[in-house]
Amino acid sequence: MATERTLSIIKPDATRRNITGKVLAMLEEAGLRVVAQKRLQLTKEQAEAFYAVHKERAFFGDLVSFMTSGPVVVQVLEGDNAVAENRRVMGATNPVDAEDGTIRRTFAENIEANTVHGSDSAENAAQEIRFFFSDLEITG
Ligand code: PPS
Repeated sequence: MATERTLSIIKPDATRRNITGKVLAMLEEAGLRVVAQKRLQLTKEQAEAFYAVHKERAFFGDLVSFMTSGPVVVQVLEGDNAVAENRRVMGATNPVDAEDGTIRRTFAENIEANTVHGSDSAENAAQEIRFFFSDLEITG
């Protein structure tokens, strides 16, 4: 299996509820290793740039407003098939559709406050990792 890296964000609903450690434990239990991590407050401009691919969607304003409503924890996760494995443990976007035992089923409040983001492809992961981290900040 290929060792990959993916970009994870623990969202403001989780920092607000002080459950970032519980979310991280589920990521680690899934075999993912944190090789970079920082907590930050996104600006409106940064959130709009990160989610630019969704700018035509009806929920774009709500998504940007939610993602800037409090601090986030951004992480680079490494592991075998990390992109797919992270998406599996996250669960479906809408928590009502997420499988039991997934992060979103366990913790998400609704489709907007859904606790975690994870890159959806290796290509996007590389781009999203570059958005937040320099090479110097990533160490296995
Ligand atoms: S969906 O449901 O198929 O549109 O899901 P997706 O394409 O993965 O969603 C992209 C990101 O938009 C967020 N999202 C929303 N935010 C606010 N309101 C609504 N209604 C909404 N629907 C989707 C979703 O959580 C995804 O965020 P990230 O950070 O990429 O997980």
